[in-house]
Amino acid sequence: VNELDAVYLKPNVQVEPLVAHWYAWPLLVAPATAAMITKNLHLRLLQSYLKAPQIHAAAAKNPALRGGMFLDYSGDIRKIEEVVRFLTERLAGQLKLADAIKELDTLLSAEARGESLGLLYERVPEPLKGYVELVYDINNRASIRFVESLLFESEHYDTSLQALRLSLLDGDKRPFVLSTPRIKQDDNLIVDVPFDSPRVDELFGLRTRPQPFAQARALLGWDGLNDQDRALCASLFTTATPATDPSANRCTHDGVRVRYYNHATLLIETPNVSILLDPVVSYDIDGDVERFSYKDLPETIDYVLLTHNHQDHVMFETLLQIRQRVKTFVVPRSGGGTLPDPSLRLILEATGFENVIELDELQSLKVPDGEIRGLPFFGEHGDLNIRSKLGYQLRLNGCSILALADSNNLEHRLYERLQRSIGDVDVIFIGMECDGAPMSWLYGPLLTTPLGRKMDQSRRLDGSNFERARRIVDQLKPKAVYVYAMGAEPWLGYITSIHYTETSTPIVESNNLVEYCRSQSIASERLYGKKEMHFERRR
Ligand SMILES: [Fe+2]
Repeated sequence: VNELDAVYLKPNVQVEPLVAHWYAWPLLVAPATAAMITKNLHLRLLQSYLKAPQIHAAAAKNPALRGGMFLDYSGDIRKIEEVVRFLTERLAGQLKLADAIKELDTLLSAEARGESLGLLYERVPEPLKGYVELVYDINNRASIRFVESLLFESEHYDTSLQALRLSLLDGDKRPFVLSTPRIKQDDNLIVDVPFDSPRVDELFGLRTRPQPFAQARALLGWDGLNDQDRALCASLFTTATPATDPSANRCTHDGVRVRYYNHATLLIETPNVSILLDPVVSYDIDGDVERFSYKDLPETIDYVLLTHNHQDHVMFETLLQIRQRVKTFVVPRSGGGTLPDPSLRLILEATGFENVIELDELQSLKVPDGEIRGLPFFGEHGDLNIRSKLGYQLRLNGCSILALADSNNLEHRLYERLQRSIGDVDVIFIGMECDGAPMSWLYGPLLTTPLGRKMDQSRRLDGSNFERARRIVDQLKPKAVYVYAMGAEPWLGYITSIHYTETSTPIVESNNLVEYCRSQSIASERLYGKKEMHFERRR
């Protein structure tokens, strides 16, 4: 390749966004949760690995422990020691913040007994002073409210910890990413670049718009690379024109076209509007299961809708790569300032996403050919008071489509109440991952006092089972029901760590739902891999 040759990013270039050497996910971006995760998860994991690497290696290979918090690493142990050093030195401030959160929480539970909280401010630990308000609920239980926007402007949010790790992917197998630091090895390039940098958008624009090689490689810091990394850098680009012209991806169907990409990712379009839900997009890999990939995305996406703040629904890996094509991001409004429910809008804005709109329950947004409305989403968060979650109703060309993501129908009367305001429903998409992980799998590092095992096992991150999903169907009487968001596609193991068999509860329960719907003459299917659906315009 010559310096002036026009090059594209290869379709199989995998990009892992990193924060302080770990795979980036929303709670690792928000300052207060990031501090807790660094201290209570990452450092503990690394120290445990250094004590007994062989135990981690064995556990990481054990399919029964898939998705467990074990390091999947067999390289030079000194690199792990380096990460520990990095976290303890560079993130010393974050670690102090985590200690301060624990200390303040302990202080509140020991001393806030219903009398004025005013006197306690002088005892707020220094790293939190000025960033927190102390509040009671109506039963005199005290808690901390974080002024999140200020924390993002403080030294506790450091964009110089952000980086991209690039490599060439040759199949669907990727190791689980949340339990192992992403180490620089010979087959990958780590580029230090803040997520909000225009370089990020320029780089991913190279999937469809070529640039001279000299300019493209400069985006990856070519001048500072050694010979080996230069060769690797060059191998990420190609002069070959992409197989699909993105303008060919436009929807021309007169009603509504829905493309299922995988997991909870739906591209819902009319000729006048494109709406992408919970974007997780596969690279262009010639695997066993057919799929839509980046090359199938339209040139512009009018709206990206996010349903809730779990790492398989808010995925920086995809969001950063499509950001330059997206006009507006729609996210659920958070409860405001509690530790487990950081603002998704602030997380996105701090990482360079513009035009982020928050939507609330039953709030609607006019779009070409119709409207988008937020719907209450119960459960699936271990009964924590987390408000950053919404189902969506899309009314387009007269079709009413519900995307309920992982909504757990804990209270079927909700849908009876909702029916009056949402009216007729044509299509429902619902997730049925009804096993769910115990609450601590995701939220454990945020707890300042440990949760008993029995409580933890009972409070799960689980979606609707057959009975609960059936009640939604019976109430809303749609014409079609699709089970989605099962995390089952073979290329998603790195984030969902899910592997079903025919006897897995979510498969049995969703089979029951599909069968039930069909017995009621409702079209139904559990989506897997790839699917395109057309719904006719209604007057
Ligand atoms: Fe979820």
